[in-house]
Amino acid sequence: MKKTSVGLLKRMLLPKFPAIEIDGAVVFQGCDVSQDQLEEAAVLGAVMRKKPQKDSGRELHELNLLNQKRYAVTAWFYDFLDYPWERQYRKWRPELLKDVSGDVLEAGVGTGRNLQYYPHHVNLTAIDLSPAMLKKASRRCSEAACSVTFVHEDASRMLSIPSAQYDWIVSFFLCCVLPNELQEQAVSEFARVLKPGGRFRLLEMKYSENPALRKRQERFAPFVAKVYGAGFDRDTLSHLEKNKDLTVTGTRFLKADTYLLIDGIRKG
Ligand SMILES: C[S@@+](CC[C@H](N)C(=O)[O-])C[C@H]1O[C@@H](n2cnc3c(N)ncnc32)[C@H](O)[C@@H]1O
Repeated sequence: MKKTSVGLLKRMLLPKFPAIEIDGAVVFQGCDVSQDQLEEAAVLGAVMRKKPQKDSGRELHELNLLNQKRYAVTAWFYDFLDYPWERQYRKWRPELLKDVSGDVLEAGVGTGRNLQYYPHHVNLTAIDLSPAMLKKASRRCSEAACSVTFVHEDASRMLSIPSAQYDWIVSFFLCCVLPNELQEQAVSEFARVLKPGGRFRLLEMKYSENPALRKRQERFAPFVAKVYGAGFDRDTLSHLEKNKDLTVTGTRFLKADTYLLIDGIRKG
């Protein structure tokens, strides 16, 4: 093959945004990355590489592998499909993010719907299991007023995330996707990476106690499971309440008894 064709092929295969892969984790820094930002990302990479990988022998759980494959497809039409619900969520997001501060971990960033609502002083690390969803999110990072680092990471393992690192964990509609088997493990990881006194805010969906509404949810459940890998039956709240390092400080429903907001703190 001629040299120019190789170059062209390489350009076609390369991601269209700056991407750095470190120990299997893909780290994106910014959208239009300057030399300074690239160097910063490289430093971040060095820090990550220096940290010994915790229990690195643990493979990605097969159910997470399934979700990763699922979102490789769902990512293509996620925003389109989610639009009817996003019309509601976008009314909640600014209110739910206006008081977060410091070093923030967003677990399951998805297509980056929260990015524009973080206060400018936040230093955000946005993780997701799906490289395809991260790619979508990275296209939204110019909407963010704060600094954003995208990391390809499984929230139930967080192998590349050091302990006691974050002032806040924000996670919307991740735990309803996380398989029941991995809920406890993910909650322990939340506790591990939060600083003492650090706070968390989770938004999840649940089955309603109202028979008519529950019936509608049950009809819808197979679609939600197939496309999003999500369920209305996750018991994230009880896992949070059982974790000895976390305290749930408040819960409230944002709509009917289905959208549950959970606030809490890492014991100091
Ligand atoms: C329903 S979407 C929610 C996206 C976003 N948080 C929002 O509010 O629009 C769930 C996201 O969680 C991600 N996800 C699923 N399992 C995960 C895991 N184990 N670790 C990290 N992200 C995960 C999916 O790839 C997907 O992007």
